[in-house]
Amino acid sequence: METESGVRTIDSKKSPRRAKRRNRPLSRLVENNLIQQVSIEKYQEKVRKVYGGPKGALLATCSKLSLHSPLGERIFRERRFDLRGCRRILDVGSGAGQIAKHLLKYADRDTEITCSDLSRQMLRRARGRLKSSRTRFVASDLTRLPFADASFDAVTCGFVLEHLPDPRPGLAEISRVLTPGGRLLLLTTEDNFSGAWTSRLWYCRTYNRAELKETCHSLGLIWQQELWYTPVHKVLRVGGICVEIVKR
Ligand SMILES: C[S@@+](CC[C@H](N)C(=O)[O-])C[C@H]1O[C@@H](n2cnc3c(N)ncnc32)[C@H](O)[C@@H]1O
Repeated sequence: METESGVRTIDSKKSPRRAKRRNRPLSRLVENNLIQQVSIEKYQEKVRKVYGGPKGALLATCSKLSLHSPLGERIFRERRFDLRGCRRILDVGSGAGQIAKHLLKYADRDTEITCSDLSRQMLRRARGRLKSSRTRFVASDLTRLPFADASFDAVTCGFVLEHLPDPRPGLAEISRVLTPGGRLLLLTTEDNFSGAWTSRLWYCRTYNRAELKETCHSLGLIWQQELWYTPVHKVLRVGGICVEIVKR
C-alpha cells in the first residue's frame, strides 16, 4: 500500500500520515486538495497561472512581510547551511529569487547560481530583482531538470516540493544533478494547521515530516540536520520543514 507521499506501508490504516490526518480534522478541512484531484498537466497549468498572476507578483513582498525571507537569510548568514566552497548552486523553483538573493550575498564571489522555475513569468521577475551576471535562468520542471548528472555542489529548494503530488520524481532529479556528497537545503510545507492555510493559499499539498524523511532516505538523500528559523519556531513547530540533506 502507498501513502499520498509515496511511502510504502504494510497497512494504510497504520500509516503515520493517515493517523495524523485523522487527528487533525480542522487541518483537513482547511487544506486544499486540488493536487490530488486533477491531472499533473492541469495542476501545473494552475500553478503557472497562479504564480504568473497578481499573487506571484506579490510573492517577494509577502516573503518579506511573513518574515520568511529575512529569517531564511539568517540560515545562510549564520552558515547553518554553509555555502562556502560551492562552485555551482542550483535554486529550484526560485520564484521571485528570494533564496537566490541570499545565495548571491553569502556564496563565494565566483559561484555560479542557476535559477530554475516552472513559470517563465517568475523567472522574469527574479531576473529583474537580482540583476546579476552571476545568475542564469532556466525554465524547467523540477521533475525533468535539463542539467547533466552531478552538475551542482549544492541545491536549494524552497517551498516547491509541495507542488508535486509525489515527491519522489522531484527528489530523484535533485539527487541526480547533485555531486556525491553534495548538499540540499529543502524547505517545504508541513502537515499542521499553518501548513494547511499555506496549502489553501497556494493550492499546494503538505508533508508529514517523518514520512518525507523516510522517502528522502530511500533515495539516498540523508537528513543531516533539521533547521528552524528561530527557537520559538522550534517550540511551536511552525515555519515548515527546513532541512539540510546530504547526497550519499
Ligand atoms: C512559493 S514559490 C517559492 C519561491 C522561493 N523558492 C522561496 O523559497 O521563497 C514556489 C515556486 O515554485 C515554482 N514551481 C511550482 N511547481 C514547480 C515545478 N514542478 N518545477 C519547478 N518549479 C515549480 C512556482 O512557479 C513558484 O515560482
